[in-house]
Amino acid sequence: MNDTRSIWLGTAPHFAGPRAPYSGHYDIVIVGGGIVGISTAFALRHSGLKIAVVEARKLLGDVTGHTTGKLTSQHGLIYDHIINTFGIDAARKYADMNQFVVEEVGKIASEESIDCDYVRDEAYVYAMTDETAEKIGKELSACLELGLPVSIGEPDLPYAVKAALKFENQARYHPVKFLLGLADRIEGKVELFENTRVIEIEENDDGCAVRTEIGELAADKVVVATNYPIYDSGLFVAKIAPYKSYAVAVDIARPMPSGMYITEDEPLRSLRRQQFENREVQIIGGGHHKVGQEEDTAMCFSELLRWADDNFEVKTLLFKWSTQDNWSADRLPYIGKSPNRERIFVATGFGGWGMTTGIASGKILSDAILGKENAWASAVDPGRLPLAAVPAIAKENLNAAKHLIGDRILRAQSPEFAGIPMGDAAIVQMQDERVAVYRDHDGQVHAVTSSCMHWGCELRWNSAETTWDCPCHGSRFGIEGDVLHGPAVMPLEKRIVDDTK
Ligand code: FES
Repeated sequence: MNDTRSIWLGTAPHFAGPRAPYSGHYDIVIVGGGIVGISTAFALRHSGLKIAVVEARKLLGDVTGHTTGKLTSQHGLIYDHIINTFGIDAARKYADMNQFVVEEVGKIASEESIDCDYVRDEAYVYAMTDETAEKIGKELSACLELGLPVSIGEPDLPYAVKAALKFENQARYHPVKFLLGLADRIEGKVELFENTRVIEIEENDDGCAVRTEIGELAADKVVVATNYPIYDSGLFVAKIAPYKSYAVAVDIARPMPSGMYITEDEPLRSLRRQQFENREVQIIGGGHHKVGQEEDTAMCFSELLRWADDNFEVKTLLFKWSTQDNWSADRLPYIGKSPNRERIFVATGFGGWGMTTGIASGKILSDAILGKENAWASAVDPGRLPLAAVPAIAKENLNAAKHLIGDRILRAQSPEFAGIPMGDAAIVQMQDERVAVYRDHDGQVHAVTSSCMHWGCELRWNSAETTWDCPCHGSRFGIEGDVLHGPAVMPLEKRIVDDTK
């Protein structure tokens, strides 16, 4: 099985929206049809505002459709860190926000009759090392101080752990079914457009211009809901870093653990069960590397499957997929008005916990747009810059700078097109230009420019997904140069090569 497809996109109803019009005026244009975009549109559905959601590809088809679908206030080991970095007040707001979403999704699913496999479940974070076990003790104290439903837990796992923290009454769900349900309920009140990439956003005194690949929309306000912001007035490029992880859905021969699990030790592993056809299957997530900085991405799936087989005895591999998300330097997301702007709003930096923070973004951003107070907003203000985060910011920027400058000088390249085997790819020097070349399984060559259309970093081959990925800020491109993930908004240029040389 070579195809990557998530269990969520493989089992969700079909949605087909039109392309955006060539022109038009809206009160609100939401750029991006993922969890943030749909949640914000849903929160604004009774506002009387004229709203458009403009998605570059398919609604929910990018990061939102490639998660593990856990709804939990347990975000690894984070609350002790937040208290130490920002204080108890910010930690309480973050905890309340996530607990609210766990309840709210169930409430909305029930009120709106959305069948989204919402099930209450316990969420464990566990330690495999003494060092992490010590952190679990501190996290327990922090969580108790915040009033979270937490206790020392006894995991139902086939391997020994050093310590575990149990969060009671959390939830798991089918994120795409839930959000398509929301999209269905707002149709008629909100215009949902697909296959229309926004390439530029401009704020002016009297409104915003939203330039798409086919025209221009005018908007009083704009929400940038593109996972990695395609519009950056907040130096996000220096404050967030994109990481990739992997997941599989499998039938297993051994007993399925009750509860949801994650460890922060290496190798990172995440577990939950999910209804599939007439049975439950196990979802296992893991792997963690900066986008475009792993030489052998296919190996990430192999290692995950080997671990799954060792511990649970895999009978059938049903789905495998990868995802990516942005880690903020201080570990809190950025949700609210984009810094130094009056009409542009943003949500990013979820650190892999976008199932709760993405839905909370809908509430925070809609309140900000309507001028309402929001109890959580100050904790996730995009304009913050705590001193404690400066070393992490410096480290990530050094890493990006190394690829921006160093890759062009240092990397050894494949000498000739003819040396690229079928199913493989390489960056090849062609006269005065480097070209990204893929030879497909029929022998046909696909060649595009090798410089990322964001800031020009040299792209890396992702063998697991047959894509060109950027090691600097996580843009991804198809073999024909099409943009799969931003912040890049323009495609790579195609090149004609003589593949006999
Ligand atoms: Fe920034 Fe590629 S994503 S240079």
